[in-house]
Parts: sequence; C-alpha cells; structure tokens
Amino acid sequence: MPNNTLQHVVILMAMQGEASPFIEHFQMPEHSSGLSPALPFRCFQKTIGGIKVSLLTSGLDKQHQVDNIGCEPATLMAHEAINKLAPDLLISAGTAGGFSAKGAQIGTVYASEKYFIFHDRLVPMPGFDQAGEGCYPSLNVNQLAADLKLETGIVSSGSSLEKNVKDARVIDKHSAVAKEMEAAAIAWVANLYGAPFFALKSITNLVDEDNQSETEFVKHFDVAVAQLTEKLISVVDYLQHKTLSDLSN
Ligand code: ADE
Repeated sequence: MPNNTLQHVVILMAMQGEASPFIEHFQMPEHSSGLSPALPFRCFQKTIGGIKVSLLTSGLDKQHQVDNIGCEPATLMAHEAINKLAPDLLISAGTAGGFSAKGAQIGTVYASEKYFIFHDRLVPMPGFDQAGEGCYPSLNVNQLAADLKLETGIVSSGSSLEKNVKDARVIDKHSAVAKEMEAAAIAWVANLYGAPFFALKSITNLVDEDNQSETEFVKHFDVAVAQLTEKLISVVDYLQHKTLSDLSN
C-alpha cells in the first residue's frame, strides 16, 4: 500500500440533497474539472487543509429530472472520477436502510468493511451465482472507524428502495448492515482500477421494522444527512497528513 500522504480524495454522492450540507459547510465551488460534458455529473472542489477534495454528485436524469440514483449512474460516475480525477482515495457517501436487529438507529453512520455485495442479482448458475453477489473489496478503514467512533459492516447494494423478501435473504446471508443503491457498483469499478475505496452510509429507515422504506426514507432524510455530514467532515479532517496504511490497524 502506498506510503504517501493523501493528496486527492473523491467523494461520490447520488443525491444533491445528501451532498448540499457538506458543500455549503466548506463553501465548495462547482467546477467542470474535465468531466465529460455529455455526462450529468456535477463536481464541487476545494482544497481542505492539505487535501484536494472533489465531491461528485450524480446530477439529474435527462428524461425524468430526478437525481440519478442507482448502480448505473454510480458505475459511470466512478469510471469518470477515476479516469479524469485520478484520486488516491474514493469514498461513496450517502443514505441507506439499516436493521434494528443489528443495533441501527435513524442516523447511525456506518463505514464499510470487508466487501460489498449486490442483493438483487440472482443468477442460480455455478459461478454466476457468486459473481451476482459481487463481494468486491472495501478498503480496510477499521482504525479510522475506531478513532471516529463509526459503526462498521458490510454494505449491500441493489436497484430498489422498496422492500423485497429475496433481497433480505442475500442481505442476511452476508450479515450486511446497510442496504443502499450504489456502493457495490462503485466497488466493482474501483476493483478494476485498483482504486482504494470505502463507503460511509447513514441510516434513514429500518428495513426490519414494520414500515414502508420509502415513507421512512423521506421522513428521516434530513436527520440522517445531518449525521452523515458531521461524520464526513470528521473523516476529511482525519485524513489530513495520513497515508492509506494509517486508516487500518
Ligand atoms: N437508501 C436509503 N434507504 C434505502 C433502502 N431501504 N433501500 C435502498 N436504498 C436505500
């Protein structure tokens, strides 16, 4: 693992509403930064302490005018970020569903550990079954998590916010703590390029309680984003003068 102190960190966020408080906190100006003009992504940049921070949001769906959530935009954004910005660390930050059985509450923030899975790519054929689940690696950030008092766990991605019994089976199989819609796709791209990558996810809804994820997501979005922003600010502060090896023990 490179022993240089971190110079450029790229944060990928799907929804503008997840990113706005962080952008406003640091007064980050928007730049094109060489990203392809054909792509919907927005880039906010600022040197914070000794680190250049580029925060990319997915922008709006060209046809439907809502945030580009999900694995397809996340894949493309990760590819564009790695190739055009060459970060030495990539972070997926955003909201997720959590599980009260795993101790989650609204606003609990998790750092990813071990690997990322896909919970809705069910291909019951030898080899493809495992490829469907992905298990693409997360950078080990257990020292960062311990120092910043972050919970840790496996993050699971899929294409639906709505609950689904089949999703729950895969999530349970891996004891994942966060159900969201982007991280595993980014992990796939990061793994192709050998780009160090981890995720930070704040809980908006408790998937294993008797409720509708979509209603709870909307109800608790602001609280979860406030917690995410607080932790993301402390992560950027923590990364100052650190190497990748300093993030694990
Ligand atoms: N993002 C926030 N909550 C989610 C959930 N329950 N499923 C998928 N993505 C989410």
